[in-house]
Amino acid sequence: MKPIGIFYGSSTGNTKTIAENIKANIEPMLVDIYDVKYVKINDIEMYDNIILGSSTWGKGILQADFERFLYDILKFANLKGKKIAIFGTGDSSIYPDSFADSIGIIFEALEGKGVTFVGEFPTKGYKFDSSLSIFGDKFVGLPLDDDSDEQQNKLRITLWTELLKFDLN
Ligand SMILES: Cc1cc2nc3c(=O)[nH]c(=O)nc-3n(C[C@H](O)[C@H](O)[C@H](O)COP(=O)(O)O)c2cc1C
Repeated sequence: MKPIGIFYGSSTGNTKTIAENIKANIEPMLVDIYDVKYVKINDIEMYDNIILGSSTWGKGILQADFERFLYDILKFANLKGKKIAIFGTGDSSIYPDSFADSIGIIFEALEGKGVTFVGEFPTKGYKFDSSLSIFGDKFVGLPLDDDSDEQQNKLRITLWTELLKFDLN
């Protein structure tokens, strides 16, 4: 597998911790992690495999640093031919109507840029009313719920990273 860049935005540290767990589950030597606050366009373009992660804030709004990164940097990057996987953190019990919307917002913003999205995830086992992150009958990335117990997040990350090992470049 080629090197992987994980780019995350996190306000209270949850998404950062998940990024570290994802790295540990893939092949740590192959994975670099970046806080999007400090990322330049070259940092992204050097990877053929990219994992993006953002929490959802407001009511269905991207984490502030990630929003700036998406619209000021990522939208202008040459992403043609790259494989992209997305994960999002959220809270389905307090925000069931906008659960992990970040994944869908990122997905839609990057459509038409010539990327291949990988890492769809089934909705089975999640409890929520509505999410912008479902296309067809699947999440277009991996949602992780603050309210889920640690075991559930752990299992979901394990399943998702196994998928990525097949689907990334
Ligand atoms: C004010 C506020 C608004 C939030 N809005 C949403 C939301 O609309 N949807 C959702 O799934 N989670 C929502 N959350 C939950 C956060 O996304 C969740 O706590 C996440 O783990 C934070 O990650 P971070 O520390 O990496 O930013 C909200 C949390 C707060 C405090």
